[in-house]
Amino acid sequence: MRRRGRLLFVLALALGPPAALALGAAFPATLRIPRREPASALAVPAAWFSHRAHGALGCYSCHPSVFPQAPLAFTHEDMRAGRYCGSCHDGARAFAITAVACGGCHGTLH
Ligand code: HEC
Ligand code: HEC
Ligand code: HEC
Repeated sequence: MRRRGRLLFVLALALGPPAALALGAAFPATLRIPRREPASALAVPAAWFSHRAHGALGCYSCHPSVFPQAPLAFTHEDMRAGRYCGSCHDGARAFAITAVACGGCHGTLH
């Protein structure tokens, strides 16, 4: 991450989402999750994550405990084991990953 980006990010984490927005897009509204298994690219398009759709949660819900502050590749196996998106999307805290259509996460976003 660029130096300025990291400074704004740390400030945003300290002050919360309203401050993060006021600081002016220190983080992307949507981003593409990197793929760990390039060979599986044929099966489905890349998965996306939307900060906008998770705006009700504080930054600390995910950073740095669940996700680092840099792109990280992971798989469905990781999520099934309760890591990354699977730490919330388990059918209890939030809908299960298997409960929504593939296109809810894969393909063009929202
Ligand atoms: C529900 C979980 C979640 C919440 C809440 C969340 N983020 Fe993120 N954030 C992610 C994920 C997922 C990624 C991408 C990680 C990856 O690429 O594997 C990410 C990536 C980032 C990045 C790196 C962007 C890049 O280009 O690589 C920044 C900066 C960031 N988030 C800032 C924030 C800030 C500021 C807040 C609070 C306003 C916030 N995030 C709230 C899940 C979250
Ligand atoms: C809740 C979001 C979500 C849903 C729903 C979802 N995926 Fe994924 N999927 C991801 C994420 C995140 C990754 C990791 C990034 C990537 O590889 O694009 C991923 C990765 C993959 C991969 C790469 C290999 C692997 O095992 O990780 C395949 C293949 C895949 N998904 C297929 C599917 C299919 C088929 C469905 C529907 C039955 C589906 N996904 C539903 C989020 C989701
Ligand atoms: C800290 C908990 C948490 C994490 C981690 C998390 N989510 Fe969510 N997510 C939520 C909650 C809460 C909602 C709103 C829930 C609901 O309606 O059940 C949500 C909603 C969503 C939605 C629906 C968005 C919409 O437009 O309605 C998608 C898609 C989604 N998450 C994908 C992901 C993906 C992909 C990841 C991992 C990269 C992820 N989430 C990580 C808690 C989380």
